Amino acid sequence: MNKEILIKEAEELFAQVVEWRRHFHENAELSFQEYETTDYIEAQLKELEGVEISRPTKTGLVARVKGGLPGRKIAFRADIDALPITEDNGLEFMSKNPGAMHACGHDGHTAMQMALAVLASRHRSEIKGEAVFIFQHAEELPPGGAVELYEAGVMEGVEELYGCHLSSNYPTGKLGVRSGALTAATDRFDITIKGKGGHSAMPDQCVDPIITGAQVITALQNIVSRNIRPLEPVVLSVCQLTAGHAYNVIPHEMVITGSVRTFSEQVRRDIPEMIKRITGGVCASTGAEFELAYEWGYASVINDEVLTGYVEEALEGWFGPESILPIEPVMPGEDFSALQKDCPACFIEIGTRDEAKGTATPHHNPAYIMDEEGMRYGLGLLAAIMHHRLG
Ligand code: NI
Repeated sequence: MNKEILIKEAEELFAQVVEWRRHFHENAELSFQEYETTDYIEAQLKELEGVEISRPTKTGLVARVKGGLPGRKIAFRADIDALPITEDNGLEFMSKNPGAMHACGHDGHTAMQMALAVLASRHRSEIKGEAVFIFQHAEELPPGGAVELYEAGVMEGVEELYGCHLSSNYPTGKLGVRSGALTAATDRFDITIKGKGGHSAMPDQCVDPIITGAQVITALQNIVSRNIRPLEPVVLSVCQLTAGHAYNVIPHEMVITGSVRTFSEQVRRDIPEMIKRITGGVCASTGAEFELAYEWGYASVINDEVLTGYVEEALEGWFGPESILPIEPVMPGEDFSALQKDCPACFIEIGTRDEAKGTATPHHNPAYIMDEEGMRYGLGLLAAIMHHRLG
């Protein structure tokens, strides 16, 4: 593949990317319900020569382009789902579906990856190996669509995996690159403190789950401040309490619900034991009992050092090194991690923040507006990676 030709073609496809993105934006669909979105992607891609399409899950789709030359098999992943939000930003192409909005930029990810498939189809005779394009459903709703696609075998034989996210956290024109842990693992806990209810005037006859729970809540903060190595970032937040129904009745139970965010897989696996030890100790002191339900959410996205290096190399002679922004890890979770179990991966953040255009609004917000110009860089980035790894 000739780099100059590819750069020119990617640039020419930008208007098409915008058109596709606006179509998805206007027709936003929620996680696990992306039927029309999937049909539309299929209808567009099946026009292309040399693109093999499969639908291994109810929604979501995989397109493959087998190159004319021997080489490696690499995969790209774009997520396709919208959020349960009613759009409120005055855009001409606002979502027609109340309660469904592309407020995280997945419409842009889908459109950029479709354009990448166009480039792969055109240059398939020069491709060394195979390009796999994963259009993944349900990123926004755990357990997520990635795990389903993984179990359906879409990653078999894939040697490298790439993905990206448009983000208003970074300025348009910048590509956020980082080696190592990029996103936090996001897990949930529910602790049920079991006491003995009774009259508020006779606490001696009761085991008060609220007093016990209050001590548990405070004591849990010892995990981050005293039990975890200070250099490991961890957030443990209690966010929901459920107990009681009357002002003069000591209830039987109290439920403490919260979230834990971690980067290290080892630390992540250690935390439930720490919660049990602390809760058990406090309960023993008051005579209460407890149960812990721990729900594993998305694992951390870990960027492979070698692949991150390829991404940086790929950008040389494309947008140039000044487009690369070294970034810190980000706290939101990403189920891209479910696809990277057996192969190295790299996930890149693509800037879309431009204060002058009013595109600095945070994601997951009804007023979110994406700077579409960011997709020019996003498509360039993806094409540069494909050129570097399959060219
Ligand atoms: Ni997102």
